[in-house]
Amino acid sequence: MTAELRDELDRIAAQAPARIDACASPEEVEALRVEYVGTKGSITRINKLLREVPADQRPGLGKRVGEVRSLVLQKLQEAGQKFQVEDGAGRQRIDITLPGRTFLLGRRHPLTIALDRITSIFSDMGFTVADGPEIESEYYNFEALNMPPDHPARDMTDTYYVAPQWPLRSQTSPVQVREMEKRRPPVRIIVPGKVYRNEDVSARAMNQFFQVEGLYVDRNVTFADLKGTLETFCRRFFPPKTRVRFRPSYFPFTEPSTEVDVSCILCNGSGCRVCKYAGWLEILGAGMVDPNVFGFVDYDPEEYNGFAFGMGIDRTTMMRYGVDDIRHFWENDMRFLSQFE
Ligand code: DAH
Repeated sequence: MTAELRDELDRIAAQAPARIDACASPEEVEALRVEYVGTKGSITRINKLLREVPADQRPGLGKRVGEVRSLVLQKLQEAGQKFQVEDGAGRQRIDITLPGRTFLLGRRHPLTIALDRITSIFSDMGFTVADGPEIESEYYNFEALNMPPDHPARDMTDTYYVAPQWPLRSQTSPVQVREMEKRRPPVRIIVPGKVYRNEDVSARAMNQFFQVEGLYVDRNVTFADLKGTLETFCRRFFPPKTRVRFRPSYFPFTEPSTEVDVSCILCNGSGCRVCKYAGWLEILGAGMVDPNVFGFVDYDPEEYNGFAFGMGIDRTTMMRYGVDDIRHFWENDMRFLSQFE
């Protein structure tokens, strides 16, 4: 029996180092550890059998078991280190079997995509970007835009106030007045920005949303310039088949005034739920600047004239991407936001 056990130990000593060296993963190393030195491993088993070996041969064989066991443990430890991040001396080991780490790339918000595109189209036509405060005075938000104190739009139920006489702006139009105060014509600006209205929040309405205001003032600006500019914008912003129409309208700060509709980009004008079966969607208000507004900024209405427009961004963006609830834009849900290019 002693001789058999010795032979087996010699065999293990001869084979184990090469087998352990050949391991290609930590799992394979672990399997060999179990096979040799686990509770039911071959070396463990031989060690237990020592009890049955004649007493005079026991020390010699016991020594041999210890040697082989040390050899195997040493090899297992070396093999295990091969798969560790550090090799024990502080040097980095690279485990090429680990999955790679991906980086989350940020994306533009869908409303930002729309605003950037609108800005780029108008800057091609010579417009520069201006901005103004979101907490606005009643003077700029209403009065200088030809909305006297008894005007229905000044009703507290429509406009938020942060303090008496200090509304959150309900439109981007006040920036028209601020810009005209700062300089003389020609003025050719757009104003992308956020506005606030005391609306009941629903799938189609939010109490804050984005507008882009536009203003062009110079000598000899005509309604034809207004039409040409806004038509050019619509051609470039909407899909090629989209039709554009101008309807007469009313705004306190323009005369004459108009509203612009585009054929519904979802049903192409045949009528659907989004356009409420009208085939058309209103996208902006516009008009020739009212001479009264020029009066507030000391522009001579005999010398200068101009046009202005204002469009809402959120609804148009909903249509463009088929978004069915305006609140998605404000919820910061990555599953929604990561869908837009
Ligand atoms: N400020 C208007 C609104 O919020 C939109 C608008 C209409 C702006 C006509 C203009 C304009 O500059 O000329 O509904």
